[in-house]
Amino acid sequence: MYEQISHSLLNSILDDLKPEIRRQDLRHFYTRLGANFYAIYSLFYTLYGHRADFKLQMLRLVEVMAKGYIDRSTELERIDIQREQDHNWFLSQKWVGMALYSNGFADNLPDLINKISYFQELGINMVHIMPILKCPEGKSDGGYAISDFREIDDRVGNLQDVRNIAEEFRKRDILLVLDIVLNHTSDEHEWAKQAIKGDRRFQDYYYIFENREVPDMFEQSMPNVFPETAPGNFTWNAEMGKWVMTVFHDYQWDLNYSNPAVFIEMLDIILFWANQGVDILRLDAVAFLWKKIGTTCQNERKAHLILQLMKDCCQVTAPGVLFIAEAIVAPIEIIKYFGEDAIVAKECEIAYNATLMALLWEGIATKNTKLIYQGIKNLPNKLDRATWLNYVRCHDDIGFGFDDNDIRLAGYEPSSHRRFLVDYFSGKYDASAKGLVFMPNEVTGDARICGSLASLVGLESALEDGNEQLIASSINRILLLHGIILSFGGIPLLYNGDALGVLNDYSFTENPSKCNDNRWVHRPKIDWEKAELRKKQGTVEYTIFNAMKKMIAIRKEISAFADFNNRELLQIDNPHLLCFMRFDPQRPSEKVLAIANFDANPQYLDLEAIGNAGFSAYSQFVDLYSGKMPSQHDGRIVLQGYQFYWLTDK
Ligand code: GLC
Repeated sequence: MYEQISHSLLNSILDDLKPEIRRQDLRHFYTRLGANFYAIYSLFYTLYGHRADFKLQMLRLVEVMAKGYIDRSTELERIDIQREQDHNWFLSQKWVGMALYSNGFADNLPDLINKISYFQELGINMVHIMPILKCPEGKSDGGYAISDFREIDDRVGNLQDVRNIAEEFRKRDILLVLDIVLNHTSDEHEWAKQAIKGDRRFQDYYYIFENREVPDMFEQSMPNVFPETAPGNFTWNAEMGKWVMTVFHDYQWDLNYSNPAVFIEMLDIILFWANQGVDILRLDAVAFLWKKIGTTCQNERKAHLILQLMKDCCQVTAPGVLFIAEAIVAPIEIIKYFGEDAIVAKECEIAYNATLMALLWEGIATKNTKLIYQGIKNLPNKLDRATWLNYVRCHDDIGFGFDDNDIRLAGYEPSSHRRFLVDYFSGKYDASAKGLVFMPNEVTGDARICGSLASLVGLESALEDGNEQLIASSINRILLLHGIILSFGGIPLLYNGDALGVLNDYSFTENPSKCNDNRWVHRPKIDWEKAELRKKQGTVEYTIFNAMKKMIAIRKEISAFADFNNRELLQIDNPHLLCFMRFDPQRPSEKVLAIANFDANPQYLDLEAIGNAGFSAYSQFVDLYSGKMPSQHDGRIVLQGYQFYWLTDK
């Protein structure tokens, strides 16, 4: 778009660029900057146009993008151009992800390279390595309190290791995902240290206040993220003699994006990691980026503008790099992190589907799909060039943040239903679920749940009891949940040891820096000797691993599983089943009917009632997973307890 004011500004900025930047060959950079400049200028102006130094800040922004471009390797630029040409590349069904800790899955980063064959064995080709940047020993929030955004924590490795991993992954067509913690730094970050020493420039990087007047105003409407261990959103720093905003833990200082210097620093960091060969950046806690008195300080419009600006700037320098939005917020808010428009107001290409995750767990507890249907129906269609990250478990807790209205429409009272779910997974209702309650909030009555997938679905207690039948049904629940995330539409993201049925790890209770955070119960170190059992028939590890491996391999072959808003939820008359159709928009005859039974007992599906779901004849059905025709009785399809089908035409 050509617009006079922004273009005359662009010309003057290009004239003012440092000579070492002007001397470079910036052909591709200029083309992209020209194409995106009006959007970048408008967003930057909306956020910072009131400042006297606006033009200077704009110049600094362009310099950071140009420097990032100059530092980008020819190999990465080749990939950028390839991805620009095949711009829907990440919507393909071929991608299957896994999230892991470099010192939990492996010993450290160099050792992770030794374990790449595991990804290939299972079919994983997108790996999210959890935070690896420098952070304090104890007060680190699992690596999300960063004290240097450009240095690797020397307990896990160094920058060269990351470059090696990126290179090894690229050779094998595996995508590398790393975190960028945009919202806060550790109180041991250099910026915070300078602020503590009294440097006003760095105090302006954070929300720092002389007295409680403003903090008290904020507190009136801000919820608590960790009410049990970190109540309140401000922390007194005695050395500085001031209050600082700390939404998460008291050692995580919130960055102040109303200061353009913060935005530019963080963009520089994003581009730095893009240039190390990272394919996808997971932007942590994006809902919290903008703070405004009188609001919850989550999902603010300006948080979205910041993300749009980040995306536009990143596209100029490193267009092949994607963003994942980690926004674990209400269903209606999550979808907004894709942006308003796929081109004009784009934010993140990928977003965690926290809604589906929570709904699946609700289905496990209730054994019915009433709320799942209600929740999925209300998930709006996403933008083109956007996709979900579908997951069952991750390193965080499970929160039951469904829409209250959906809960009512499913026939429950919202707060008592949430309480039931917490009771269920903490074993009060069904002793086989071995979850731990996380952050109960006495004021609101809310609570969340921690625990590994296997322990939450009863495998831990079934193994303790040596009950073969319960072991089998726990395994079936693990596979049922993965059968859904692998076929729902989006990129499935497996977690750490879930393909091996790894149980809760209670050793965190003995570690003083972890014992107050139950999330460590599901962040175990993988026992690779035990993991070898995946090769021994008859073991739990073998059953889970090989079933998942097979499902992954099938997913990759089925074009209907790619993500183009090509899913139809089918209304059926059995409240225990979830039934949806996936189809290939290019070839509508390529379709798969996914059916999942959330009940422990066999259930029927009357296909005739839904017109055979558009398939030619019932007798033509074959289940992609087993290769067999589905069981049938009385003219209806039968699913065993916790069974799922991926049915297609023979
Ligand atoms: C994200 C991370 C979580 C962390 C929080 C604060 O939600 O997933 O583990 O505690 O951000 O950084």
